[in-house]
Amino acid sequence: MQRFTSPRLWTVCCWMFILTCGPSIGPASGFEPNYDESKIPDYTLPDPLVSQDGAPITSAEQWNTVRRPELLDLFEKHVYGVSPKPCPIRHEVVSRKTVFNGLATRSEIDVFFGLADDAPSMRMMTYVPNERSGPVPAFLGLNFQGNHGVDADPAIELNPGWFREGRNGTTDGNKANEKSRGATASRWPVKMILDRGYGLATIYYGDIDPDFDDGFKNGIHGALGGQVADVAPESRWGSIAAWAYGLSRALDCLESESELGVDTSKVAVIGHSRLGKTSLWAGASDPRFAMVVSNNSGCGGAALSRRAIGETVGRINTVFPHWFCDQFTEYNENESACPVDQHQLIALIAPRPVYVASASEDQWADPKGEFLAAAAADPVYRLLGTRGMGGDAPPAKMPAADRAINRGVIGYHLRTGKHDVTDYDWQQYLDMADRHLQ
Ligand code: GCU
Repeated sequence: MQRFTSPRLWTVCCWMFILTCGPSIGPASGFEPNYDESKIPDYTLPDPLVSQDGAPITSAEQWNTVRRPELLDLFEKHVYGVSPKPCPIRHEVVSRKTVFNGLATRSEIDVFFGLADDAPSMRMMTYVPNERSGPVPAFLGLNFQGNHGVDADPAIELNPGWFREGRNGTTDGNKANEKSRGATASRWPVKMILDRGYGLATIYYGDIDPDFDDGFKNGIHGALGGQVADVAPESRWGSIAAWAYGLSRALDCLESESELGVDTSKVAVIGHSRLGKTSLWAGASDPRFAMVVSNNSGCGGAALSRRAIGETVGRINTVFPHWFCDQFTEYNENESACPVDQHQLIALIAPRPVYVASASEDQWADPKGEFLAAAAADPVYRLLGTRGMGGDAPPAKMPAADRAINRGVIGYHLRTGKHDVTDYDWQQYLDMADRHLQ
């Protein structure tokens, strides 16, 4: 990669790259990601089964009463930040419609964060199959381009909120335009999900917290931020924690509105990329989620930070300063000083099923680091009486591309191709859900 010699030109180019590349930003000029395994710094992973005072954790009870709360607290204070306590919610059903030739019912619901008239809200869109004997298991996930991006039906309201500038003409001055209808439909195979007997609930992530650094004034940060005033400033919630908070409130709404037809004891939380980081934190911090799916979540998601390969902690904190708590910046180019690493985040989901997926051309997200983190969570899953990744021990080597590891409670695959969510990915998640949620 070419280095710029003039610091000013370098800065201008960096910012132009950042501002134009949007959600799938890769390595920017100036930051030289390491992709060479031989250059990974020496590291030792913190043991999920040894408590901070050095005592081994040898029973499920010790995990649940000592180590799990301790790790949760460390992830809050050092990585994602402390969120407010759950706020009461209220909701209004905005639309309900039979879709796909009678196959399903689609609803749009405004979910308000708080009971006040001016409480901020997010719009959830749900689909449930009409042919069902009772409530159905469902996937719940945030989307990048609005509910209207998931499904091109013009009856879905074009989200009026703030959008990152799209690369394919789907925005005009940070507002979604008509071209964005159905723009992310390939990532949401709604009919496939319904045909397999599942519901789907989705929300535009920017409804919860617009994805730019404004000093945490907009979105629910602004409205609920006062509630974390007693938390040390460096450990207050970042945007990923806010998005995860929104997912939990969405689950509250599904619980309180039985008309939506979702079996809330069987909700899998799913997310891609930054929203995969979010689904992991939502699943770790809210044990009501029955299954968790992280698709290509990378740094600050499923990938081990200590490998510092592809995107690093320093790099992510620089380009996206609002995603994590400020304390996380202490580990820029200093990953081993962090008391936790991402395998422990996956372990916090145990014994519930978790699925981590990588893509072969997504080296920025460190597929190997994602696999190693999933494997390193395995001992916790086994302590809790499950078969972890399956077999007698986790596989020592990464599986070949497109060969899913899915016999246990921790699933993993490396899909051939780029950073994306494809039908292949969904087929694996649905198979995993069939085994654990049906
Ligand atoms: C960037 C960022 C990643 C993130 C991705 C996304 O590439 O560096 O950490 O996962 O955006 O969310 O699209």
